[in-house]
Amino acid sequence: MSDKDDSIGYWPAFVGNDKGGQTPARPRGNSPPMSALLSRRALLMRTACAGGALLCAGSAYSGVAHAASETAGQPFEFDEIALEPRAGDRLPIGYTRQVVIRWGDPLFADAPAFDVARLSPATARRQFGINNDYTAFLPLPLGSGSSDHGLLVVNHEYPNPQLMFPGLDVAGLAENITRDQVDICIAACGVSVVEVQRDAAGQWGVVQGGAYNRRITADTPIRISGPAAGHPRLRTAADPAGLWALGTHDNCNGGRTPWGTVLTCEEGSADFFAGHVDRHPDRALMERSHYEDSAHGRYGWARFHEHFDFDRHPNEPNRFEWVVEIDPFDPEAPPVKRTALGRFAHEGAHCALAADGRVVVYLGDDYEFEYCYRFTSQRPVDMQNRAANRDLLDDGVLAVARFDGDGTVHWLPLIWGQGPLTPENGFANQGDVLIETRRAADLLGATPMDSPEGFEPNPVTGHVYIALTGNGDRTEPNPANPRAANNHGHILEMIPPNGANGQPDHGADSFAWDVFILCGDPKNPQDQAQFHADTSRQGWFVEPDNIGFDPAGRLWVCSDGPGIRGHDGLWVMDTTGPKRGLPRLFYNPPIQSECCSPAFTPDGQTLFLSIQHPSERAANLAEVLTGWPDFAPGQPPRPAVIAIVRG
Ligand code: FEO
Ligand code: CA
Ligand code: CA
Repeated sequence: MSDKDDSIGYWPAFVGNDKGGQTPARPRGNSPPMSALLSRRALLMRTACAGGALLCAGSAYSGVAHAASETAGQPFEFDEIALEPRAGDRLPIGYTRQVVIRWGDPLFADAPAFDVARLSPATARRQFGINNDYTAFLPLPLGSGSSDHGLLVVNHEYPNPQLMFPGLDVAGLAENITRDQVDICIAACGVSVVEVQRDAAGQWGVVQGGAYNRRITADTPIRISGPAAGHPRLRTAADPAGLWALGTHDNCNGGRTPWGTVLTCEEGSADFFAGHVDRHPDRALMERSHYEDSAHGRYGWARFHEHFDFDRHPNEPNRFEWVVEIDPFDPEAPPVKRTALGRFAHEGAHCALAADGRVVVYLGDDYEFEYCYRFTSQRPVDMQNRAANRDLLDDGVLAVARFDGDGTVHWLPLIWGQGPLTPENGFANQGDVLIETRRAADLLGATPMDSPEGFEPNPVTGHVYIALTGNGDRTEPNPANPRAANNHGHILEMIPPNGANGQPDHGADSFAWDVFILCGDPKNPQDQAQFHADTSRQGWFVEPDNIGFDPAGRLWVCSDGPGIRGHDGLWVMDTTGPKRGLPRLFYNPPIQSECCSPAFTPDGQTLFLSIQHPSERAANLAEVLTGWPDFAPGQPPRPAVIAIVRG
């Protein structure tokens, strides 16, 4: 089924003003800019960015506080669509989506077009990877604030080999997968950097062979830096100095730094490794890292590449679950694992500024009962000299959140030698504190959370939002995770105090916090859901995962369930004003897919969205439920990054 045909006459009308009047869909080219998406403040900030300041890549880093009324009344109305699993995707009338790039699309001039019958490790290295997740848009040229030309930096989280290789079934996958197939998977994971451009007709497309186009894969050499670099627990037979890891994998969400680099987050590594936990010399750390015994690892990589076998190479897992910094504007620069940002299941790494100009990175640990962290650099960002920020993330303080019942969240620093983080408790140095971040946070009395995912500051208000997908195993509520058996998740709001400059100080020792939304069915009292009273039948959601903000400060939420809703989606809502916490469904992705990482161009006219794992629950390619996005005979469904525009 073509989702294009599917959409005609179905998508409800976009309402172009806040009075509720309907604006019919317009042909592309005549459509006005999505000015409805922009606040006056956002326009001013964009203008300021046109001067070329490094901070342009994110007005999010301005730290400018805005009166709530500035966003509360912004017009952004559309008729909600229905949430339902179907082969195609769906948007409100007045919007279209373009497929920008799909798994297997060529990035380089010599790369072949995708053909599922002709996959090879060599071609996979020259093509866009699988299961796109975090997606960042960085304007080109650097510092320009351009909204029609830029780089997409995209994570490829994990493979679905049963949906990549005809004849391979999910049952017995790790035993049956071939070496070539494993090597294709390794090449298809990691990160892509791809130049994209919007043409005069408004169509986004890839610049094949663009000078910055790049693949980083699960076997690209990655430098290790920061306090844990060279630590004995990071040394291996292949890397006796403990300074270079082979590859990055499980790259989930991420973030952009104020100096125009991208942080890609290693969310976990247990699925990728094989071995016996009870034979491991550091069994307690492996168990705290949620490792379990596995003969071949989930994807069979250890059968062909011994560094994925922790029976043979027990320190290898310690070289993963870090945040990796990539400079997309320097294709020759090796990616760097920044150990100062801790080791855990990093979901994302969204940046803000302290009042004194130090960079702050918000970091969630995406596991039940794990924690929320914040890194604050030692030095301020140098806005005039990009190179001066090159190793800014190697030196600073990692802290973990304790949410108190009085509405205060305290940031507890994880500093070796302070409090319980001493040799008596097994921490010989700061490297140990970072390699065992979770145990250090346990000892400090951090608040165990219900699976922290999106954790990001609102660029307009400076308030910080945390999406928690849920925790069905919770038996004891705490103030910030107030429901036992929390299967539906919730969203918290943190409010930094204003600093001396009158702006939200993301580096303050404590913030205020509150519950923003409790997910669930508002009509089912047992769910104890908390949404705006006017939330529609399509408007409520469960299991919030990635979040993002448009330039006007509206909160966009992707679910990753689908839980009791039966299907995932993308909702948008105000965070201030009379419609605070009133979500409305904006995008319905194809069946058994998850939409990830809403990312706007600086002018708010394009929303990039990453569509991951269509038909994921099919056991093999013969049983897929959709051929999205092309519905091409003989070809599989393909994860893709789409651009949503008006018109
Ligand atoms: Fe990759 Fe936290 O989901
Ligand atoms: Ca996700
Ligand atoms: Ca998730």
